[in-house]
Amino acid sequence: MTTITNIEDLRRLAQKRVPRMFYDYADSGSWTESTYRANEADFERIRLRQRVAVNIANRSLATTMIGEDVAMPVAIAPTGLTGMQHADGEILAARAAEKFGIPFTLSTMSICSIEDIAASTTRPFWFQLYVMKNRGFIERLIDRAKAARCSALMLTLDLQILGQRHKDIKNGLSAPPKPTFGNLVNLATKPRWCLGMLGTKRRQFGNIVGHVEGVTDMSSLGAWTQQQFDPSLDWNDVEWIKKRWGGKLILKGILDAEDARHAVDTGADALVVSNHGGRQLDGAPSTIEALPAIAEAAGSAIEVWMDSGIRSGQDVLKAIARGAKATLIGRAFLYGLGAMGEAGVTKCLELIRNELDLTMAFCGRTRIGDVDASVLLPPG
Ligand SMILES: Cc1cc2nc3c(=O)[nH]c(=O)nc-3n(C[C@H](O)[C@H](O)[C@H](O)COP(=O)(O)O)c2cc1C
Repeated sequence: MTTITNIEDLRRLAQKRVPRMFYDYADSGSWTESTYRANEADFERIRLRQRVAVNIANRSLATTMIGEDVAMPVAIAPTGLTGMQHADGEILAARAAEKFGIPFTLSTMSICSIEDIAASTTRPFWFQLYVMKNRGFIERLIDRAKAARCSALMLTLDLQILGQRHKDIKNGLSAPPKPTFGNLVNLATKPRWCLGMLGTKRRQFGNIVGHVEGVTDMSSLGAWTQQQFDPSLDWNDVEWIKKRWGGKLILKGILDAEDARHAVDTGADALVVSNHGGRQLDGAPSTIEALPAIAEAAGSAIEVWMDSGIRSGQDVLKAIARGAKATLIGRAFLYGLGAMGEAGVTKCLELIRNELDLTMAFCGRTRIGDVDASVLLPPG
């Protein structure tokens, strides 16, 4: 087997091991994928300032996110269907994050349930909420997250309607996959994945199926989202959710300075500058481009985090230099999970930590909290 030295190696291995439908679900963006590509390309354009003859012997990446100690300024982003990248995927990723000392966020659209994660970990995790029309169900989800001792609720604001991802429609994305001829042929080439799936009972949307009356069939994810997600969500609902939850609140999906000011007004604890990994509004700016104006608009009243496009520790450092206190990673950990299960997520985190540590040192800094815009060269 090839030696894994970067996230791209994990991506290639995941592509070999994960059924095409689920690999494509992770590795794609909406419409022309221009925003998806810009998320990574805009990171590449940013140049770092190398400094020398600075004592960099003792270094630390430790910091805090909404008051929680973290080993580095990186958390696992909420991702749907993670238990389809690898059997019991959310449990494995949550365990890897816990051992590493960073937060794990469970998606509403996960395969393993809130209760599964609570039973498999000791460190409190975060729960990501999508708002659906059925408010009784939302209240129950919030109560379940409280009962599971989740230490923060991450409310996603950029997916009340679904961006069109061509591949998901063409592949007929569903969980579990339908036994069509094409799917069976593809599954036959993924024996490890199939064995894992045969060994678990978690093959449905664990937070939803069995918890909403009448929802037994989610075979068409796109159609289901359209029916259930509430396009009328507005800032009043955010207030309602904040009150109902009563704990730490993170608002995810902010991409505009004006919305950042609204987010500050809610009194939330953090906002995530995010374009959903280029999966929603194609044509929107990359997050690393949008970040500085949002950080300025938000000021110090709220923690500003960012995600979308992070594939290395260098990207994390650049995000911090441009005004983020911390970051989330989506695909990077999904590739690790699809490639090698829990060990792959751990590998992903180790790679990012080492890249971040070395890059910080080359820039002449020893503490992540001291990294600011002065580690960057002006664009040129
Ligand atoms: C396969 C996949 C599923 C996702 N599902 C969710 C989700 O259920 N809830 C959510 O808030 N964000 C979801 N996201 C967005 C991520 O939380 C995050 O914003 C994005 O992955 C960051 O970009 P990156 O993948 O380039 O790191 C998903 C992203 C991917 C790639």
